[in-house]
Amino acid sequence: MTERQSWGSKLGLILATAGNAVGLGNILRFPSKAALYGGGAFMVPYFISLFLMGLPLMIIEWVIGRYAGRYGHGSMTGILGLFFNHASWARILGSIGVAIPLLICMYYIYIESWTLGFAFLSIFGEIPTPVVTSNANEAIKPYLNFFREYTNPSATAYFFLLLTIAINWFILQKGVKKGIEITAKIGMPAIILFGFILGLICLSAGNWKGFEGLKFIYNLNFSRISDPVVWIEASGQIFFTLSLGMGAIAVYASYTSPREDVIKAGMWTAGINEFVEIVIGASIAIPAAFAMFSALAIPELAKEGTFRLGFITMPAIFMSFPLGEYISFIWFLLLFFAALTSSLALIQPLIALFEDEMKWEHSKAVNISIILITLGAHLSAFVPNFIDELDFWAGCFLLLIFGLIEIFVFIWIFGINNFYNELTKNTNLKLPKFFVYIMGILSPLFIVFIIYYWVIKDFENIFFIDEPNKLIARVFIILFILFLSVIAVKSKKIIMRDIRYLKLMKNLDR
Ligand code: ALA
Repeated sequence: MTERQSWGSKLGLILATAGNAVGLGNILRFPSKAALYGGGAFMVPYFISLFLMGLPLMIIEWVIGRYAGRYGHGSMTGILGLFFNHASWARILGSIGVAIPLLICMYYIYIESWTLGFAFLSIFGEIPTPVVTSNANEAIKPYLNFFREYTNPSATAYFFLLLTIAINWFILQKGVKKGIEITAKIGMPAIILFGFILGLICLSAGNWKGFEGLKFIYNLNFSRISDPVVWIEASGQIFFTLSLGMGAIAVYASYTSPREDVIKAGMWTAGINEFVEIVIGASIAIPAAFAMFSALAIPELAKEGTFRLGFITMPAIFMSFPLGEYISFIWFLLLFFAALTSSLALIQPLIALFEDEMKWEHSKAVNISIILITLGAHLSAFVPNFIDELDFWAGCFLLLIFGLIEIFVFIWIFGINNFYNELTKNTNLKLPKFFVYIMGILSPLFIVFIIYYWVIKDFENIFFIDEPNKLIARVFIILFILFLSVIAVKSKKIIMRDIRYLKLMKNLDR
């Protein structure tokens, strides 16, 4: 049997997992959602979800990832299998946890390619020049049109999509230590440093008018507290931004040493991610939009799509600054780094599935994973609304469902005592057992509550299909889960053979 991959250093591990979590979600998705759902009104459910669900699940994924890594499993197929003697149904259930990050990555990588494309278009002076007008719609128009033409998709967009996929392929081929870890060591410090600089530029824009944007986000209020859609979006954002419910944290944790302090590692991951989201992410796109356009224009801009605020308002504002092309170039390049460190993490669960469960060699596992991503990315590029449909189902709904499954299996099936022992191994932070009860009772109740009210209130909007492209996206999601389920069942034989072999060797040793 070949040895599993592992991280090179503690610092590398923390930066890689922080890079896993920090991504487009922090800098583009977060401000878009906040703008769309009322700024401070969105932040109340956001913070409640962070403490009741996000932090507990972050710790759970770390604990379980480290545990499963000892048994040679990193994908949710293998991890869920581990708790049920590799019963087929458990492995099939785990397939949903492998499908989620991949489905997300299929549109994520396309948006990642926009950031690279826009970086080059900025530096080559291809971004439109600003129109001098006090009318927000008129000011935005050239950028809106430019964005729509680019994402139509143009030949340039297609070229950058292929280039982005090739970059991901190249890094993943190098493996966990030499590929992902090194990328994070370069990317993370750069993201933080340049994020700070850009935050200052945006806040100070228009004679510090940008601060109005920050106030809009932090004017915490309860005006939408009874709106289930705001709750589902806020809790979905917590899952998305922390990379929870998608097996991406667990797979990274599975490559750690059994002596790793998972509580500390989990807190570092969540802490760095939240810093980049609610400090840096909050200081760029929305303040920039406030400085440039009227407050009324903000929700309108956000409606253009989940991630798109940053591709319209940011070039518009940066291009009105001296040396705007260069500032815009740095902004998109940094977004690209943030996205890259996350897309690698979104693909890794599938690579782990092929390596750990099918026993494929690394290079083959990476190649097949990239082929699948390329297929999905093409659908994202060419089928209208495919991105938003995938973002809703894989990037929000299924995350909540899988989060529930994780809590149920990892705390209740594994057992409170086993989980607690595993949690408190190799740490000086001796959390009282009481925390496990919070994780096991309060967090799932919270998730069920949200899903229940949301589904009841919004049943029609959620499940009825009003256009054929949505149907294509949903059929694709189902087929992809079925495909992974077949792999889960087929690979069971290989795992059982290995287990029998190990038992035999143990008996012979006696
Ligand atoms: N957690 C990643 C992000 O925020 C997926 O972009």
